[in-house]
Amino acid sequence: MAAVLMDGFKNSIRSKATLFLFFCIIALNSFAASPCKVVGLRCEYLINPLGIDAKTPRFTWRLEDARRGGKQVAFQVLVSTGANDFSNDKSLQWNSGKIDAATNLILYNGKELQPFTTYYWKVIVWDKDGVETSASPVATFETGMMGAHNWKGTWISDGTGIHEKPAPYFRKKFNTTKKVKTARAYIAAGGLFELYLNGEKVGNHRLDPAYTRFDRRTLYVTHDVTKQITQGQNAVGVLLGNGWYNHQSTAVWDFHKAPWRARPTFCLDLRITYEDGSVETISSGKDWKTAFSPITFNSIYTAEHYNANLEQPLWNTAAFVDTAWKGVIIRSAPSQNIVSQVMHPIRNVTEVPAVSVTKFNDATYVYDLSRNISGVSKIKVQGTKGTVLYLKHGERLTKAGRVDLSNIDAHYRPTDNTDPFQTDIVVLSGKEDEFMPRFNYKGFQYVEVTSSQPVSLKKENLTGYFMHSDVPPLGQVSSSNPMINKLWQATNNSYLSNLFGYPTDCPQREKNGWTGDAHIALETGLYNFDGITVYEKWLADHRDEQQPNGVLPSIIPTGGWGYEWGNGPDWTSTIAIIPWNIYLFYGDASLLKASYENIKRYVDHIDATYPTGLTTWGLGDWVPVKTKSPVELTSSIYYFTDTYILSQAARLLSKKEEEQHYSKLAQKIKEAINAKYLDRATGLYGSGSQTELSAPLYWNIVPEALKAKVAANLAQRVQKDNLHLDVGLLGTKSILNALSENGYADLAYKIAAQEDYPSWGWWIKNGATTLYENWNIDATSDISLNHIMFGEIGAWLYKALGGIKPDSAAPGFRHIVLEPHFVAGLDAFDASFNSPNGLVISSWKKKGRSIEYNVTVPPNTTAMLKLTTGKMKLYEGDKAVTSLSPKESSNNRQGQSSYLLNAGAYRFILK
Ligand code: BGC
Repeated sequence: MAAVLMDGFKNSIRSKATLFLFFCIIALNSFAASPCKVVGLRCEYLINPLGIDAKTPRFTWRLEDARRGGKQVAFQVLVSTGANDFSNDKSLQWNSGKIDAATNLILYNGKELQPFTTYYWKVIVWDKDGVETSASPVATFETGMMGAHNWKGTWISDGTGIHEKPAPYFRKKFNTTKKVKTARAYIAAGGLFELYLNGEKVGNHRLDPAYTRFDRRTLYVTHDVTKQITQGQNAVGVLLGNGWYNHQSTAVWDFHKAPWRARPTFCLDLRITYEDGSVETISSGKDWKTAFSPITFNSIYTAEHYNANLEQPLWNTAAFVDTAWKGVIIRSAPSQNIVSQVMHPIRNVTEVPAVSVTKFNDATYVYDLSRNISGVSKIKVQGTKGTVLYLKHGERLTKAGRVDLSNIDAHYRPTDNTDPFQTDIVVLSGKEDEFMPRFNYKGFQYVEVTSSQPVSLKKENLTGYFMHSDVPPLGQVSSSNPMINKLWQATNNSYLSNLFGYPTDCPQREKNGWTGDAHIALETGLYNFDGITVYEKWLADHRDEQQPNGVLPSIIPTGGWGYEWGNGPDWTSTIAIIPWNIYLFYGDASLLKASYENIKRYVDHIDATYPTGLTTWGLGDWVPVKTKSPVELTSSIYYFTDTYILSQAARLLSKKEEEQHYSKLAQKIKEAINAKYLDRATGLYGSGSQTELSAPLYWNIVPEALKAKVAANLAQRVQKDNLHLDVGLLGTKSILNALSENGYADLAYKIAAQEDYPSWGWWIKNGATTLYENWNIDATSDISLNHIMFGEIGAWLYKALGGIKPDSAAPGFRHIVLEPHFVAGLDAFDASFNSPNGLVISSWKKKGRSIEYNVTVPPNTTAMLKLTTGKMKLYEGDKAVTSLSPKESSNNRQGQSSYLLNAGAYRFILK
């Protein structure tokens, strides 16, 4: 009995001690600072954005945690109207509470957001040990109009017509008597604008607002102008340009006949909040004055003309006397749908000085920037008053060394000689003049300056500016092959040259939002740049342009051209492929949700029109090296892809019946393709060309049991083609991937690294700094020197050599597939990609017979490393790393080992 008592006593002491220890640990845990930090807070994918119209904006963040297995087990988001005040019930707008989840993307779900309001937010995360981190730095977002009814301004114009050439100025004087606390400018335009306050340009954006289908969606831009308003007399000025709204130049796509076309117009609210809390709004309206500016002509497509003698100094300041200016007219808004531009803006991102100037005579000079860019040139020059300069911008030179436009002016249809292609015209004042177009951009490397009277020019007189949507870089590639490094750069140059608030085909000949080019280059874009804001905007353009029956035009936006040509599924599958890849890369299904009905209408249209499952609607493998592949095969593959994506979207959105319906339809299309094109005995599709074999492999058309056979045929085909490309635009998407994904990475690399015709390297070897439109440098048509349509190689470098791939089961790189190929012929390769969860690094170097492989798996993610190791073994330090059993690792192929990696940095040796 006593013993029993004794035991009970001991037990109780023990359990008390345990309890004590337990509390100590808890206490320690909550006091010990977690090494995990919350960083990178963004709202709607922008840092502290202004002018948010979304009712439930999206918040995202990242972790910094160097520990192995660092992750978030729970999080809490707090949103308040009080700066740094998250405890006051009145200002607190949302407290998500502690949510046990690893997600770093959440939609606002608090009190209804009010317009014109600054919201402060922060995130608290519980780390891998359940320890609460110190809160993130406080971030902000500010709401905008949140609805057309909040506009106070009136849409105004100068009352002239669509053929009027000079760009109009607008101005208004106003007084402030009180101390300004904050001031915001909200400005929407049909056309393009530059906004000025007290003589200074507001912000550093270019070509705002971005191009949309103006009569269906008009964008407004928000600027913080607090510092530009002075107490007392102020003046606000607006300069309007035509942009795509009033297209005066004539080309084959008929933009001059666009249904929305009108003289440019704008609406402005300058909302000033004073220190005393009162609010005053200065708006566009009948009391504004207008006059012509010195910009005597402006065309987004061709160029800009300027007469320095027409300058009205200080026109945008309060001191200016505007009695000679005339009144404005009030007009209707371009559309009833005026929404915020929530996007990385276009900017003059890189200054590109001229590297040389060649003087032909006193009135003829040719500048060379030594790289091809999209953008503008700025000239600073002094010459005799009245001298006319012609600045002709082009991508190549004639044999005589003069600028040659013949590769890019093919689709221009001028009606007279007053609007020469890519040629700015400047009339000098006699003083030092400076000119840079405000409402035009071009594609060029060379600028030929000719003048009506002798003028003295030096290299320093002209500078180029590389303009594009200023999307933050996310990826980086470098390798031991200098040609590959240059090719990666050239691909990015062409990608950016073709990103102006919508993806384009080329910055010179067309500037058209060609759908096909954009989906081919999509992954290249997403690995290298943070493009989600631009793609979300462009998909809204898609929704604006879609016919009720589901049909989309081949170029988006469009003035009407493109519903009858080039708009089959091989091009307009953007409607499905873009939302799906945004989902894979960002883990965000919003765009997929927003596009779901549109994808459905699109697929239903093809199903109704082509009930067999095969469609001949499309352009096919555009600009091939030599072999043309059947349009029906490639178009039906894209039709299958859209239907498959639709079935996956239906699954995500829990639409059971639709998931079943579209899965079945996808299966039917696949079977129809295989029944007509696949010879099961030989494993060949059609005539067995590179595109015919690689497209079915890459897009998952090939029956599992025949994959190896089809891939072997592709490898043989490539050997027969002397390890060179024989594809067009559609084939470039699949050729390298189909090889590297099916056991032929070495062959894929050989093609990628070729330096003679036909290859990417052939361009690079011939001095290309951008990608071309034609494999044949001497071709006579389709010869733009800045096309992104053959740009998939930029993504392939990440996917095949770096091996960094998203996993659709855990999108947004929550789970990462790492499948690098240490290809023959390349000694070292580094890829890094700043995923939504942080930096993924995959970097390898061959050292004698072993390979050093460095990997970083960002916090809050895991990675499946898949290596085709053969007889080699993987070590970390001296320790052999154990691979998963084939059962545990998905897709285990013969000779492939898989390793599950937690977050952290690893230095492996393969020997
Ligand atoms: C464009 C291409 C586009 C093609 C469609 C060309 O004029 O520049 O990039 O995809 O037309 O056929």
